[in-house]
Amino acid sequence: MFSQAENFAIPNGQFLNVQGNYYLNHHTPGIYPATSTSHSETKNLVQPAGYYQGITFCPTSTSTFTGRTDTLESLNNFFFDSEKTQKAFLLFGLGGAGKTQVALEFRKRFRQKFTKIYFITADTEESIQACLFDIAIDNGLGNPQDWRSGIHWLNTHEENWLIIMDNADDPRIPLRRYFPPCEHGNIIITSRNAELQNAVGQSLELWDMSPSEGLQLLVKHAVKGPLNNVQHKHAAQIAKELYYFPLALTEKSAQTINGEKAYPVPG
Ligand SMILES: Nc1ncnc2c1ncn2[C@@H]1O[C@H](COP(=O)(O)OP(=O)(O)OP(=O)(O)O)[C@@H](O)[C@H]1O
Ligand SMILES: [Mg+2]
Repeated sequence: MFSQAENFAIPNGQFLNVQGNYYLNHHTPGIYPATSTSHSETKNLVQPAGYYQGITFCPTSTSTFTGRTDTLESLNNFFFDSEKTQKAFLLFGLGGAGKTQVALEFRKRFRQKFTKIYFITADTEESIQACLFDIAIDNGLGNPQDWRSGIHWLNTHEENWLIIMDNADDPRIPLRRYFPPCEHGNIIITSRNAELQNAVGQSLELWDMSPSEGLQLLVKHAVKGPLNNVQHKHAAQIAKELYYFPLALTEKSAQTINGEKAYPVPG
């Protein structure tokens, strides 16, 4: 798909370190928020496979988050209308389109409007169950029976909680089984699976960025300092060759950094 996008350069640019994925809760057991149940207490419980305390702690969006204004606006309109019912929104699209980042940015901007926010790694049923168990632990259910205790907590707490079910790509997972069967609460699902549109109230496909957002993202990742006109034009061409696609725009700049190539100024 990006075959024409090889060997690009931003002339005369200095390159910054690129931040990689930083999902602490995927990889860093032990980093978790304070809860009412201590770690030693939870060790004695029968825990689901893959569980560690704080697994549902929500990571932050990338510090170079760019654009997606319309998508964030759609999420805002959907979740903050006056209707009192459970709301589920699906962000779907190709891998690397930025679904997870949008969900995390939405959470960052509007966190004050929710009572509790939990990040559920939804790539397997095992991880969903481990996350639901953590929701029970986080809410002081000292001896939860199993993951259903987390569903029970969400179900019985008529609050404006938000759960982000991230990377629910596997069509074999019966995702709705893990929606608390109640009339309250908010759910954002990110998935590559468009079929999930049938399971939610609203959905939106994430695709490439607008040319101006794409250029902005590339420049944030790859260039230090302002660009002159020639450099600006060249960067715009590179962003176009990368189809204004977020993952390509960020990864490509990482590759050029690691390659430590020289970048002649054209013209
Ligand atoms: N709006 C954005 N601003 C800045 N960087 C972004 C943005 N969207 C995506 N990225 C970059 O692209 C990478 C991929 O984004 P993300 O993980 O959100 O994609 P995804 O659609 O969830 O992919 P997957 O289906 O593989 O989970 C991120 O690590 C981030 O570096
Ligand atoms: Mg994702």
